[in-house]
Amino acid sequence: MKTVSALQKARYEYKPKLPAVLAENTPENIAIELGKPTEAVADQAELKQLFKNTYGKPEAVFKKGSNPDANKKLRVGIILSGGQAPGGHNVIAGLYDGIKKGNKDSVVFGFKGGPSGLIEGDYVEITDEFMNEYRNTGGFDMIGSGRTKIETPEQYAASVATAEKLDLDAIVIIGGDDSNTNAALLAEKFLELGKKTRVIGVPKTIDGDLKNEQIETSFGFDTACKTYSELIGNIGRDANSAKKYWHFIKLMGRSASHIALECALQTQPNVCLISEEVEAKKMTLRQITENICSVIAKRAENKENFGIVLIPEGLVEFIPEMKSLIAELNDTMAKNEAEFNALADFAAKKSWLQSHLTAASYETFDSLPEAIAAQFLADRDPHGNVQVSRIETEKLLVSMVETRLAAMKKEGTYTGKFSAYTHFFGYEGRCAFPSNFDADYCYALGYTAFLLIASGVTGYLSSVRNLTAPAPEWTAGGIPLTMMMNMEQRHGTKKPVIRKALVELDGKPFKEYAAHRDEWAVTTSYLFPGAIQYYGPAEVCDLTTKTIKLERC
Ligand code: FBP
Repeated sequence: MKTVSALQKARYEYKPKLPAVLAENTPENIAIELGKPTEAVADQAELKQLFKNTYGKPEAVFKKGSNPDANKKLRVGIILSGGQAPGGHNVIAGLYDGIKKGNKDSVVFGFKGGPSGLIEGDYVEITDEFMNEYRNTGGFDMIGSGRTKIETPEQYAASVATAEKLDLDAIVIIGGDDSNTNAALLAEKFLELGKKTRVIGVPKTIDGDLKNEQIETSFGFDTACKTYSELIGNIGRDANSAKKYWHFIKLMGRSASHIALECALQTQPNVCLISEEVEAKKMTLRQITENICSVIAKRAENKENFGIVLIPEGLVEFIPEMKSLIAELNDTMAKNEAEFNALADFAAKKSWLQSHLTAASYETFDSLPEAIAAQFLADRDPHGNVQVSRIETEKLLVSMVETRLAAMKKEGTYTGKFSAYTHFFGYEGRCAFPSNFDADYCYALGYTAFLLIASGVTGYLSSVRNLTAPAPEWTAGGIPLTMMMNMEQRHGTKKPVIRKALVELDGKPFKEYAAHRDEWAVTTSYLFPGAIQYYGPAEVCDLTTKTIKLERC
């Protein structure tokens, strides 16, 4: 047996809580109840054409009843797709335990390294011993993950060939909006070809942007936010102890600001930027800087030359002038790739850009500190886009703030001292031991995925709801993937995609923050959530996020 930490050893013994209907009945005593046909959120006619076999299926809920097929022998493959999120291993555990409960001779295969494992037929059979090593642990290291998309006809053909070779009854794809869009397309493909393999998705992403009326939250958001909030709280206490540093903290989350908002509700920082608000109010970088400086100046009047600023990862893409700059850079660098790459150094690139960008975008570029401007010119992703997560927005803001505060000092509107540290919290939270909430939620999602397979449906997302209640009161079912889709322009072509949920400015979580932010800006009202607790009273250990509480209660 490998050496493991004391907590890991203890977590092996943790028994995830299930909704009562799943905990109290054997699979053959759980029936699927189907509702009315559903419609996509938009572009119904186009989607109906693209998903001839799977469009408009009814929502499914599991109730006590009877499933004569529940004990059939199954062969199922599972894929972890995209960025890590705490709880992935418990989805596999829930699926594995459900399948084995249905029939002990059923088999689960883990495709290695994400969707490429399916394409390349690279898999491992999951055994009791292998599974037990990963129960209630964070990470995706059990079988690995990857970002390959199944897109080309060759990739589809290879995926179908692997499913045939392994005689798969189903494939479970654990992923975010893109991976579940892929799941929907794959489900359709199998039916179109008359193959038996069903495809079921599971909602994963720390970003929290795979949610809608039917999906209350994606797994991993809870643990990731709690991990970051613990660190922010600790930094807040340090700042309030030393009273000499401002901390600018960038938080992962790609485009949406759900993580930053949840962490703000949990820790009450002095400033939390919300990208969606910046875009809605068309705020410029200068205005954002001005707002932060005004908070710094007000706190300085109270001799509080310290504070916390939270910054969502995707901010730059929501600032109008930055958005235009990024779009122009992506375009011109792609069109003139060879010429641009041949330029000797940053100075040469900058002068080349003067004649290839609009005057407004060049001015924006020119206003950036050189180190940050260079990040805008760094390697593109495979689609030719700048990798925004690599732009150090936290450093950009500190530099802009320093410049502005120096000017304010001269004007006599600021008399404080400003010394700043920058942080980026992202990878720290993606593989933490799942909180009890994520451990339970993921296990229930995996178990529900098994029930969907055993009920013969395809093109569904495993769904566990009523999450603000204790786990036994949760409900389990499935949402047809086409119900969450619309058509969007992606790299020049219209494509079916699951709609991403951004922060809603008229939603309760943002309103709650907006109602308190002026007070939190000037006073020192930090909260200290502390480390995730795995053992102890339920009101400490089984807490859900403030976001879900506000949205659902
Ligand atoms: P998913 O959407 O695949 O769950 O990934 C989320 C995320 O953690 C984002 O928050 C972040 O921008 C991105 O992955 C980082 O990607 P990578 O792991 O490839 O560096």
